[in-house]
Amino acid sequence: MGSLVRFGVSMDAELISAFDHLIERKGYVNRSEAIRDLVREALIKTQWDRSAAPAVAALCLVYDHGTYDLARRLVECQHKHAHQIVSALHVHLDAQDCLEVVVLRGPGNELQRLADHLISTRGVKHGQLVMTASGKAIV
Ligand code: NI
Repeated sequence: MGSLVRFGVSMDAELISAFDHLIERKGYVNRSEAIRDLVREALIKTQWDRSAAPAVAALCLVYDHGTYDLARRLVECQHKHAHQIVSALHVHLDAQDCLEVVVLRGPGNELQRLADHLISTRGVKHGQLVMTASGKAIV
């Protein structure tokens, strides 16, 4: 670890109050530790974005299956990238909404692009990609 650098951050009072509640719930002892973790997470995410290193990932998508043509477009995209899709789990959440969990494997940057495409598809209400490496690559 290098030397410590202190810096000031200006933030809206409501935002910092909400952040303080969040870090208390998560058990951080102070803001510095919480901010360090956020920075590390952001840096790791950016690395995946750019790296072609082998990765595995789980993509969660929540969408309304009644949105015109959406289910077909999501399936078509997955077929197009079948070489990177290990498995997909579909759960009917209620009369309207579906949860799809797609397990991906391939170069990190390509998985990120595929996930960005699926998440940004019109009608997808929420999407989140959890990227990780194969066990051997994790130190
Ligand atoms: Ni469904």
